[in-house]
Amino acid sequence: MKKLEGAGLRGQSAGQTSLSTVEQEGSLRYLGYSIEDLAENASFEEVAYLLLLGKLPTSSELAEFEDELMNQRTMPDSLVSVVESIPASAHPMEVVRTIISYMGVIEPEKSFDDQLAIAKRLIGVTTTAIVYWYNFSHNGVKVSQDSGERSVAGHFLKLLRQEDIPELDKKTLDVSLTLYAEHEFNASTFTGRVCASTLSDLHSCLTAAVGSLRGPLHGGANEEAMKMLQQINSVEEVKSFVDQKFENKEKIMGFGHAVYSIKDPRSNIIKKFSEQLSVGHEHKLLHDAAAEMEAYMWERKKLFPNTDFFMAPAYHYIGIPTDLFTPLFAIARIVGWSAHAFEQRSNNRIIRPSAEYIGPEDRNWVDIESR
Ligand SMILES: CC(C)(COP(=O)(O)OP(=O)(O)OC[C@H]1O[C@@H](n2cnc3c(N)ncnc32)[C@H](O)[C@@H]1OP(=O)(O)O)[C@@H](O)C(=O)NCCC(=O)NCCS
Repeated sequence: MKKLEGAGLRGQSAGQTSLSTVEQEGSLRYLGYSIEDLAENASFEEVAYLLLLGKLPTSSELAEFEDELMNQRTMPDSLVSVVESIPASAHPMEVVRTIISYMGVIEPEKSFDDQLAIAKRLIGVTTTAIVYWYNFSHNGVKVSQDSGERSVAGHFLKLLRQEDIPELDKKTLDVSLTLYAEHEFNASTFTGRVCASTLSDLHSCLTAAVGSLRGPLHGGANEEAMKMLQQINSVEEVKSFVDQKFENKEKIMGFGHAVYSIKDPRSNIIKKFSEQLSVGHEHKLLHDAAAEMEAYMWERKKLFPNTDFFMAPAYHYIGIPTDLFTPLFAIARIVGWSAHAFEQRSNNRIIRPSAEYIGPEDRNWVDIESR
């Protein structure tokens, strides 16, 4: 089939939002605040408050919000049983999808008045459940669900690593969650909004969104970038590695973007953390090879890294297994997906575009015996 004019709805406005703005030349703002300012000054919880409630919190509002998120972390017993029954061979995004969907069964959204409480519940419980599943299915260990950590980032890392977590590691994950929290009408958010526009429940909207995020062209790119970087044995090898990929007409995961044309503003932010963490690390090559690839991809094709690329070495350095990269993206994006569902619900019309028909002309019916 020939490539359709305007394929992928590229460059077309598909609706309005007050949540974020993504500019082609490389700028991203959440409710008017630049991503650079937010990453430097705000915690992920502050960013979540901003997106879900529409304003930056005061100190007391933030403390209350953090308490609420902390109180939502413990899994109901039946979710523990569900999670323990999922094998290690499952794709971790299937696990995230199952956790959210199952929460919709046992703690359904009875009315839209519950929407904010459900978003908080899902941020808290999904974080616990994904790490619990990972430790149980891979190592046979039932970790305590209580980390004593205030932040989502600290909680995730403590449950995962079962040790005291250095501040830099927590900060790296916290900033990454801010970078992943929201991104206008990307594929998963749009999926969730279409679902919200049918006035479906929030768990269904988020489950649908998780399905879209799983794909390697969207959230799965951070994992793919990691697997690719691990195949490189020296910085000198990078150019021939890239050349070979182009020759084979393979895409290089973690590069390119559907909206940004010269840079993804999130990339440099996480790159700095990757660089800092790489110093003295036994896998320093991961960062060095990534930096070399960034330079060569620009020189060769004017392609630039998106947020997923340097996220891969950064996550590796803070001890996160590659399988959990995309689930972390999902945990952060529960915030953006929920905020978009709330926005859609507040001024709803069902999303139902039309299609340009390119099939056969009108035809006469042919009986089955005559075909
Ligand atoms: C993000 C992405 C899906 C955007 O897709 P898109 O808007 O349809 O961009 P296109 O695929 O039309 O790219 C334009 C050109 O750049 C090339 N290109 C884009 N990204 C590339 C990549 N990562 N590696 C190699 N070439 C790439 C395309 O092959 C295309 O070349 P062509 O014109 O010769 O066919 C695409 O860049 C991609 O697949 N990247 C890798 C996956 C990834 O990192 N996803 C995370 C996104 S945040």
